[in-house]
Amino acid sequence: MTAAAVRVRGLRFAYPGADTPVLDGVDLDIAPGERVAVLGPNGAGKTTLMLHLNGINRPLAGTVTIGDDVVDAATVREVRRRVGIVFQDPDDQLFMPTVGEDVAFGPANFGVPPDELPRRVHTALARVGLPDAAGRAPQHLSLGQRRRAAIATILSMDVDVIVLDEPTSNLDPASRRELSAALGDLECTLVVVTHDLPYALELCERSVILNGGRIVADGPTRDILADAALLAAHGLELPWGFDPHRAPTLRERSQVRRSDVT
Ligand SMILES: Nc1ncnc2c1ncn2[C@@H]1O[C@H](COP(=O)(O)OP(=O)(O)O)[C@@H](O)[C@H]1O
Ligand SMILES: [Mg+2]
Repeated sequence: MTAAAVRVRGLRFAYPGADTPVLDGVDLDIAPGERVAVLGPNGAGKTTLMLHLNGINRPLAGTVTIGDDVVDAATVREVRRRVGIVFQDPDDQLFMPTVGEDVAFGPANFGVPPDELPRRVHTALARVGLPDAAGRAPQHLSLGQRRRAAIATILSMDVDVIVLDEPTSNLDPASRRELSAALGDLECTLVVVTHDLPYALELCERSVILNGGRIVADGPTRDILADAALLAAHGLELPWGFDPHRAPTLRERSQVRRSDVT
């Protein structure tokens, strides 16, 4: 049997000085290639959980396992080669004078030979729809472009698991569509923290709800979003008029496109 891409067991975490833990017994298994949305009200600990997946946060109790490696001081470097986190604010990810240097930074740091870097950078930027951005300064890009550039800094590392924190926040509809195009075809495991429920349905076949420090629901995204009582109980709300039974997922849409041409 192949190991889960991500396995979280009994995870407990509190910020220093806080009276109550943010995470209090999180259990979550994610299989290789799965796409899972992590939903939950503001302050539920979604970002806190995500920061455990590559060892930025360390559990007070419990374990996080990536492939066969329990995340700890001895494995954290290897874990960061395999799990890439795209922060909510792309300005936390883009810190070099040019986008190309930002996208080259991860692979260079993990020992990819210098003569291979330009190809890595080009491939990653092309995948996110920014093939000509390598020489540009990040601050000259729009928010949507900076988000995609931040994703390219992770794609260039060829990670197994990509974790995205609120990838659609503050994006206009066109930028949101461009983001979908960039993420839709990826084959790696995806963990998407979001309060954008339609986006969760588009991208992720499975969703979990984090609330009260634990995973309180886990199932097909369409079933979760169709359960009005469950959503209400956890402070989640669909946009007015949105019908999860009628909205297609990205994969369904691309199947329709394919069957159009055959
Ligand atoms: N660096 C931090 N130091 C102290 N408390 C924090 C820190 N980051 C988040 N928190 C607190 O932890 C809780 C969970 O936050 P967070 O993980 O950001 O939730 P979410 O991403 O679900 O909105 C909140 O109460 C928040 O105020
Ligand atoms: Mg958050």
